[in-house]
Amino acid sequence: MSAMLEVKNIHCAYDGVPVIHGISLEVEEGELVAIIGANGAGKSTTMRTIAGLMHPVSGTISFMGEDISNMGASKTIKLGVSYVPEGRRLFSKLTVKENLELGAFATKDRKVINERLEEMYDLFSILKNRKDQIAETLSGGEQQMCAIARGLMSKPKLLLLDELSLGLQPSLVERVFEAVAEINKRGVTILLVEQMVQEALEIAKRGYVVQTGRIVHSGTSKELLCSEEVRKAYMGM
Ligand SMILES: Nc1ncnc2c1ncn2[C@@H]1O[C@H](COP(=O)(O)OP(=O)(O)OP(=O)(O)O)[C@@H](O)[C@H]1O
Ligand SMILES: [Mg+2]
Repeated sequence: MSAMLEVKNIHCAYDGVPVIHGISLEVEEGELVAIIGANGAGKSTTMRTIAGLMHPVSGTISFMGEDISNMGASKTIKLGVSYVPEGRRLFSKLTVKENLELGAFATKDRKVINERLEEMYDLFSILKNRKDQIAETLSGGEQQMCAIARGLMSKPKLLLLDELSLGLQPSLVERVFEAVAEINKRGVTILLVEQMVQEALEIAKRGYVVQTGRIVHSGTSKELLCSEEVRKAYMGM
């Protein structure tokens, strides 16, 4: 059996300038896997390429046995890959509910959309209380919850989360990560990118460390947390 997501030796470039130099990784169905690394290492580029927002120069990406390397994001989302980009990017003038509904754009069935909304309000009670609030007036943490919930409205099999902790105070980071662990428990496979290494590895089962476009370490979260190199380079220890 092959893994749900298989990234094999991808190379990526912007305007011909290479930034990813052969990344391979796998995510099994049901797993929660973290990609960690410093600024500019190529984490977001890897995520965008998996989501189909850009295509690898070489190498392949397969999802549930299907080659998605050159498939656009509008198709990968229909296959069950949902990407929550860095920086939340909500529709700032729309309400929480409207933002969530846009996440379910591929579904026309009102009943199904309402069921999913209820599921999201159950997962994030804060969004239920604020469903008619304009997104730009939410706090940073609330916006992040809204962005995750919007990503879940397409009922993904694989959820790609890019730098959820960015700009959040520590207590909110903890809450957001608890929500991510709960989403994974409910059956969604998750690949997340983080600079908060300790926190990310506490909820992830395994991790990959990216450095200047290459994977330099991989292992179980426990192994990475114990690795002196990882601790020195990414946890300031
Ligand atoms: N749109 C772009 N055009 C040109 N170069 C880009 C573009 N986006 C990213 N890069 C470059 O690609 C490299 C990898 O960037 P990427 O955003 O993937 O890093 P990252 O690991 O997500 O960093 P961060 O932790 O700061 O989000 C960097 O050198 C960056 O300058
Ligand atoms: Mg990034």
